[in-house]
Amino acid sequence: MYSEKVMDHFQNPRNVGEIKNASGVGTVGNAKCGDIMRIFLDIDEETHIIRDCKFKTFGCGAAVATSSMATELVKGRTIKEAMQVTNKAVMEALDGLPPVKVHCSLLAEEAIHAALWDYAEKHGIVIEGLEKPKSDIHEGEEEEEEEY
Ligand code: FES
Repeated sequence: MYSEKVMDHFQNPRNVGEIKNASGVGTVGNAKCGDIMRIFLDIDEETHIIRDCKFKTFGCGAAVATSSMATELVKGRTIKEAMQVTNKAVMEALDGLPPVKVHCSLLAEEAIHAALWDYAEKHGIVIEGLEKPKSDIHEGEEEEEEEY
């Protein structure tokens, strides 16, 4: 059911933890399954390169594996490049997810966007293509305006 890469990232997740005084922190949840993910970014203010990225997930195995892979994909990249790390890109890097688990990968994408949004707000900058993140990605596509 799961690819070897998914199992590997689930059993040995990379970049678990938190970053003290992070440049940006993003938290998102999915009210339907109750899972929550938080992403911490350490960003070089001059080059806009993501020096470090860590995550904490209270969630299912697919959420753990996708957050682990997502952190690997954004580390060392610029903010602009990190914007290309979509849930599809993460799933491809993991050799796919079962259809019922696709929504779990949205948590990783949204949490990265939420952390970038936090960074942009703190520094008064605009990140091209970045929209205000949802705190609850229930159903993935729904527009929810609630604050958390
Ligand atoms: Fe909730 Fe996977 S079941 S994120």
